[in-house]
Amino acid sequence: MIGQRIQDVMNEQIKHETFSAYLYFSMAAFFHSKSLDGMAQWMKAQAQEEFAHALRFFNHINDRGGRIELQALEKPQTVWESPLAAFKAALQHEEFITSKINDLAKMADEENDRAAAIMLQWFVTEQVEEEANVSTVIDMLELIGDSGHGLLMADRELGTRVAGPILPPQEV
Ligand code: FEO
Repeated sequence: MIGQRIQDVMNEQIKHETFSAYLYFSMAAFFHSKSLDGMAQWMKAQAQEEFAHALRFFNHINDRGGRIELQALEKPQTVWESPLAAFKAALQHEEFITSKINDLAKMADEENDRAAAIMLQWFVTEQVEEEANVSTVIDMLELIGDSGHGLLMADRELGTRVAGPILPPQEV
């Protein structure tokens, strides 16, 4: 049985992960509005992965006899100054998510909740990758600067991204 404290914060985390998907869908819509369909595709793939993250928390609470309580989502930002500004906002958001995962991992240790600690280990590793992926795009866009040609090349490159593996069948 899952403890109340961990359950409450994991319910909160379902909201954060779902909001991440919502934010990245909003960025995808922004990129489509600028005809940057490759960047939009990158964000849609990211959003899909965020739903899978939310589902991991959902399943963990449920599998341990806890109670899932979904929470209200805020309206995400809809416009950014530039593609670079949007990706910088994505990195800032991922840093926020990392801090939430680290808080949860610390709490699992304090509560001596081994099941939660093992499950959260996956997220600790995942967040390193998430931040690195966005940082790579930021570096690319900073190099490109004001070059329209460079931006179109980057858009083509980012459009090749496909969503990572969805949950293994036993976790869906
Ligand atoms: Fe699920 Fe990008 O953090």
